Amino acid sequence: MAAALAWLSRPTPSSAAVPVPYDWNATPPMDDRAKFVDWMVANRGEDPDFLGQRYDRFLQLIAHNDLWNDRNKRAYLMTPREEFVTAPNLSRAYQVHFLDIGFGVTITGPHSVARMTNTIDPQKGERVLEIGTGSGYQSAYLSNLTDQVFSIEIVKPLFERTGGVYEALIAKGYTEYSAIQRKNDDGYYGWPEHAPFDKIIVTCGIDHVPPPLLEQLKPDGVMVIPVGPPGAQHVLKVVKTQGADGKFSVARSDIYHGAIVNFVPFTKLQDGKISGTHSN
Ligand SMILES: C[S@@+](CC[C@H](N)C(=O)[O-])C[C@H]1O[C@@H](n2cnc3c(N)ncnc32)[C@H](O)[C@@H]1O
Repeated sequence: MAAALAWLSRPTPSSAAVPVPYDWNATPPMDDRAKFVDWMVANRGEDPDFLGQRYDRFLQLIAHNDLWNDRNKRAYLMTPREEFVTAPNLSRAYQVHFLDIGFGVTITGPHSVARMTNTIDPQKGERVLEIGTGSGYQSAYLSNLTDQVFSIEIVKPLFERTGGVYEALIAKGYTEYSAIQRKNDDGYYGWPEHAPFDKIIVTCGIDHVPPPLLEQLKPDGVMVIPVGPPGAQHVLKVVKTQGADGKFSVARSDIYHGAIVNFVPFTKLQDGKISGTHSN
């Protein structure tokens, strides 16, 4: 029974090798579903059915103002979400909802991933820190925007499983994922060895902005983070600036203009074990 459950929770393997090497300047057609599918089949060797679903969700992301510039549109279109969901959820990969990925956590829904990523709008070469690697989908998406992606996951078996997903995809030709640097740790304390970061994206909910993350954000850096009580967070854009007097100030705005979005909790490592959360 345990073996069967472990199998069910594994992401499904990629079906075909990528026929054309990754090119930062290569962009699929965005204005026509059939042209997009044909280009992606020829250049990325992906499944036409999933590609059609990816394009249909793309139109919804634009209609809901979750994607608004071409670099971020390209990053969404180039990322095979079907490779990061678990086998039982394969047919739901492009649905609007977040989905269970095992270990009591989820892959964030495509609209939230798009809006949060476009809000920080990483530029190539910028250092981006993600807290909560989870399925690996968000970092894969980020690796189409910058070659400096750092991601921390607290759940060790999930961290290891996602490592296997990346290894399999890199072997098939998704070489952009080899730039993702990951560690299994408590992300509350950031990753000082690689700080400062231009952008930080937090994918778990907490009732305050962790001071270490704010400290590791560069001046003029941008963080996006779900803040609020359990199950009722507001996704905040946090901008840190430094005045002429050297003093830092922080401006916060709600990227959903007051709407509540649920995220899994920002948990805490104590004596090597996950115990409680970082919310006060
Ligand atoms: C919504 S889920 C995953 C979203 C993920 N970005 C994706 O694309 O699948 C949030 C993740 O944050 C992780 N997490 C929670 N608290 C954490 C912490 N203190 N440090 C690092 N990761 C944490 C959870 O284990 C979970 O995998």
